[in-house]
Amino acid sequence: MSTLFDRFDLRGLGLRNRIVMAPMTRSRAASTVPDALTATYYAQRAGAGLIVTEGAQVSEQARGYLFTPGLHSKAQVQGWKAVTAAVHAERGTIFAQLWHVGRVAHRSLQPGERAPVSSVAKAAEGVQAFVYREDGTPGQMPTSTPRALAADELAGITADFVAAARNAIEAGFDGVEIHGANGYLFEQFINGGLNVRDDRYGGADIANRLRFVLETVDAVAAAIGSHRVGIRLSPFNRVFDMPAFDGEADTALALARELATRDLAYVHLSNRGAIIDNAGEGFLREYREACAGTTLILAGNYTREGAQSDLAAGLADLVAFGRPFIANPDLVERLRNDWPLADGDNDTFYGGGAAGYTDYPAYRLEAEPA
Ligand SMILES: Cc1cc2nc3c(=O)[nH]c(=O)nc-3n(C[C@H](O)[C@H](O)[C@H](O)COP(=O)(O)O)c2cc1C
Repeated sequence: MSTLFDRFDLRGLGLRNRIVMAPMTRSRAASTVPDALTATYYAQRAGAGLIVTEGAQVSEQARGYLFTPGLHSKAQVQGWKAVTAAVHAERGTIFAQLWHVGRVAHRSLQPGERAPVSSVAKAAEGVQAFVYREDGTPGQMPTSTPRALAADELAGITADFVAAARNAIEAGFDGVEIHGANGYLFEQFINGGLNVRDDRYGGADIANRLRFVLETVDAVAAAIGSHRVGIRLSPFNRVFDMPAFDGEADTALALARELATRDLAYVHLSNRGAIIDNAGEGFLREYREACAGTTLILAGNYTREGAQSDLAAGLADLVAFGRPFIANPDLVERLRNDWPLADGDNDTFYGGGAAGYTDYPAYRLEAEPA
């Protein structure tokens, strides 16, 4: 039986264990360029089998929040080079998460203060973006109503993902994860309740709603190699005003079957809890079968016991932990030794500097000061 602490061969990359650090936006890149603190933060967490970085926008248009890093400029690539070098020096493995927020954005952060873009011109109700407010201080503002992308604009966004993936490889990343989860651009196309377009990129036909994300996966895989490309998805997600819709399970399973033919590094589901709540545990098994042969990562509220149990049940190959990695840079060692976990401070999840970012100590240092 495999355990969390066994090595794993991820398409030729030797992961030291089966614990993934889930992608987490930390909003500390002052000018969208990762800096020395970013490198320290990820290097401290290199004990993970695989680190997936916070979402990195693939273009100016792709950006939804202040202080999130990008992967579309030379300065950003330089910044990330120091991050990957620091992680590799600790024998870690690191993928960059490539992100386009779509409608989860505010005009003030968009090029020319234009409307953000989505599958349809419908605002995300009740959703806030983190931007400069009218008084000039950073804070929350309701997202702006987007405009619907024209079909002939989609290839340009796909090209942005390809360019960002090439940049990621140049910056020394071991691969990229396409962010197709959590209510952002690709999910705005996949979701049949939202995407009521009447062209070949939307509407009732499942293949139409999957076309944009699959075209992007294929283009990125052609550019850097399918074995270096993962994707994150969130079936049954309700975050950011994603509605339930008819054929939700069929849509998710159809996408899983398509992805399984593409020889990818992995498929990563961000929201185990939402799946259990809205589809039941049996769906996890169905999903696993639909993408059989592809490495599957599950995330969402895992404890050591829950993670071990899902691995033992064969529901996942790797298990991702998000919040526990914030306050426990040495999470793997803590789990391995059954040491207590520190609680993170929610107030410093986003923005600021070292406090709540790189100043969480490792357990050994706490327990046995040098
Ligand atoms: C501070 C914070 C930032 C996050 N940012 C991202 C992100 O950039 N991309 C993403 O796919 N998920 C993001 N997530 C979701 C996590 O990757 C993860 O799926 C979620 O936190 C559930 O795992 P957990 O219960 O172990 O924290 C974020 C979560 C948190 C707490």
